[in-house]
Amino acid sequence: MTTSEIATVIGRRVWDSRGRPTVEAEIRLASGAIGRAIAPAGASMGSGEAVDLRDGGTAFGGYDLTRAVRSVNGEIAALLKGRDPRDQAGIDAALIALDGTPNKARLGGNAMIATSMALAHAAAAEAGEPLWRYLSGGGAIRIPVPEIQIFGGGAHAARRVDIQDFMVMAPGASSFAQALDWTAEVYRAAGLRMKKAGKLQGVADEGGYWPAFGSNEEALDELVAAIADAGFTPGPDIGISLDVAASEFGRNGRYRLTLDDSELDTEGMIDLLGRWLATYPILSVEDPLAEDDEAGFIEFTRRFGASCQVIGDDFLVTNAARVEKAAQKRSATAVLVKPNQAGTLTETKAALDAGKAAGFGTIVSARSGETEDVTICHLAVGWDAGQFKVGSFSRSERMAKWNEMLRIEESLGAEAVFSGKKALGVSKE
Ligand code: PGA
Ligand code: ZN
Repeated sequence: MTTSEIATVIGRRVWDSRGRPTVEAEIRLASGAIGRAIAPAGASMGSGEAVDLRDGGTAFGGYDLTRAVRSVNGEIAALLKGRDPRDQAGIDAALIALDGTPNKARLGGNAMIATSMALAHAAAAEAGEPLWRYLSGGGAIRIPVPEIQIFGGGAHAARRVDIQDFMVMAPGASSFAQALDWTAEVYRAAGLRMKKAGKLQGVADEGGYWPAFGSNEEALDELVAAIADAGFTPGPDIGISLDVAASEFGRNGRYRLTLDDSELDTEGMIDLLGRWLATYPILSVEDPLAEDDEAGFIEFTRRFGASCQVIGDDFLVTNAARVEKAAQKRSATAVLVKPNQAGTLTETKAALDAGKAAGFGTIVSARSGETEDVTICHLAVGWDAGQFKVGSFSRSERMAKWNEMLRIEESLGAEAVFSGKKALGVSKE
């Protein structure tokens, strides 16, 4: 037995930011080094995601996950014991083989990603390095540009507005800390405006204000006004990023917008977004069309991809093969990377690397159901993602990530380089 081999693997049920059960994995090495990680959970999930294994039934609304926890304590623990924690690729491949399904339905994608991330933590602890440094392998160290939600809609706010995330991005800031400072002022200004208008109704799942607006455009108008109220000029330095999350209201080329009481076809949806792009300082749009609308993505990217980043989330589901296809078909200019969509860190990194190889922007992202786990901060820096999406500027499961990134930036001192405007993926011709 070597001192660094895996000695024990423990799975336990913990709780997420929506008060639902989730899986934590803890890996202890023979040396005593420990790695621990918690799986997040989505609400607006792509159909191609790794399975978030739940028990169903009545306990906790069907969200209990005794089977997924049992996967970690039983089969996964047996598989990992005695192995070298530095062999992330080998162990992830063994987990995939052990699961034996195409979508991680047997062991559970949640059990697998918690284990895979805990493994990286254990290996970094054994190496005596922060995880981001361990993952960087000596490569370039850059701090990503944050995308920060101001209003939360869609599936995260009982569909109060159709668009899911109204966010601010500050690629013109000179550091991550400054981007947060600027956004904190915008978040505050937006809250004051809502209070004044009698529309402040609390916050949505990711901490953005619950948007008691009469139209999607009103949210955009308010966002621009809040940026201005905070003392900034809305534009390329600090502008808007949207996650349309169109799979939530679109299918088979039909898009049903509740707030505007209209049903659009693909062309109509693209035209609507085109009008917004012409009117508002929008730097980035995620999932502008539904996950089944590849032709729509291609058309949207052809028309707007040179001036606005086009991100695939549900559309690409952190899948390297899908990213390669998107590059070839020019159906996006950036990929959102969510570890639990893939189910292992190795597959997550492969999707990110496929994006980089295609010249895409890459964004490491949280889920709407989160915890105090800050692994994604380390992935975003260690893998040099360039962009980082965590939700809003309230609720500690969000703030834990922003604060961890501040610590990483500070620890780098003069070595810290902010990714800035170059991080956004746009079509080159
Ligand atoms: P989800 O939302 O975690 O509920 O899927 C996040 C997103 O769509 O980006
Ligand atoms: Zn999304």
